[in-house]
Amino acid sequence: MNQADSMRKKGQINIVLKKQQQDANPVQSKTFEKVEHTPYQHVERALGELVGLHNMKSFLKEVYAWLYLNKRREECGLLPNQQTLHMVFKGNPGTGKTTVARLVATLFREMGVLEKGHLIEAERADLVGEYIGHTAQKTRELIKKAMGGILFVDEAYSLARGGEKDFGKEAIDTLVKAMEDSQHDFVLILAGYPKEMDRFLSLNPGLPSRFPLKVTFPNYDADELMTIGEKMLSKRQYRLHPLAKEELNHILIHAKSRDEEHFSNGRFIRNLIERAIRSQAVRILEEEDYGKEALMTLTAKDMKLAYKKTIEDE
Ligand SMILES: Nc1ncnc2c1ncn2[C@@H]1O[C@H](COP(=O)(O)OP(=O)(O)OP(=O)(O)O)[C@@H](O)[C@H]1O
Ligand SMILES: [Mg+2]
Repeated sequence: MNQADSMRKKGQINIVLKKQQQDANPVQSKTFEKVEHTPYQHVERALGELVGLHNMKSFLKEVYAWLYLNKRREECGLLPNQQTLHMVFKGNPGTGKTTVARLVATLFREMGVLEKGHLIEAERADLVGEYIGHTAQKTRELIKKAMGGILFVDEAYSLARGGEKDFGKEAIDTLVKAMEDSQHDFVLILAGYPKEMDRFLSLNPGLPSRFPLKVTFPNYDADELMTIGEKMLSKRQYRLHPLAKEELNHILIHAKSRDEEHFSNGRFIRNLIERAIRSQAVRILEEEDYGKEALMTLTAKDMKLAYKKTIEDE
């Protein structure tokens, strides 16, 4: 068993300090020691790619600082804080919950908190079975897969959908038991729409205290969605014609106001762009202009057509 494992087994969180070597002058090294926060720096770089999400960015910094300081406290013989790292992510679809959960997994792996740092995404159907005993078995299997990483349960409130008699309750009980038995071997993230998550937590009084870390992922405004869209396009080596940008702005305002509550944010813009790219392909085939500029440019017509098809598909 390596050191990280043995500390984990003892219920402690082990953080790998990247620069711990002692200086020749211990007094000076205590005062001026410069620590490279490598695990956080890696995540910070990835966070920099994400538009908005200020809440979440400061949340992650806080979690990192807290874990790091805990380790330093332990080294000084001070009592470490109780560290429960299970989380609730509240947010509408496409607000970046899965993307951020992956980053959390990476951060925890780099800090030695989680051994593997992988992410297992699950929803009700992956946890809940069809007969007595089936649910506990399914849920336990999933937890086993998530050991050393993160188990991310999307639309977690759907586990409480059918009330007392529903097998969903068995899934919740199995999850809670696993959280207690294997406290430091996996992290559970429950995610879903804000209102439904609040209701779910209030109806299960044992749960909130088990999830001390809560983050809200707000809907993106039209400007943020535009920036997300432009980043996605430039990664794919496309760009918007100025009139296409204007059109996209109208589309975003319209789409958001149609159904604010179910608007799918980042997912909406990603799907729209992918459709617009397909519309552009057909248009270019008809226009027969295969120049580099034409191949890269999405027009207002491409955007309009893509949005029309998106609405038709709903
Ligand atoms: N802040 C952001 N900056 C850049 N891209 C983003 C941002 N938020 C989300 N995206 C992009 O939007 C898409 C949806 O994000 P993600 O899957 O993380 O959202 P989600 O909240 O998990 O959605 P769902 O509820 O649908 O599972 C992804 O392609 C992601 O890369
Ligand atoms: Mg998701």
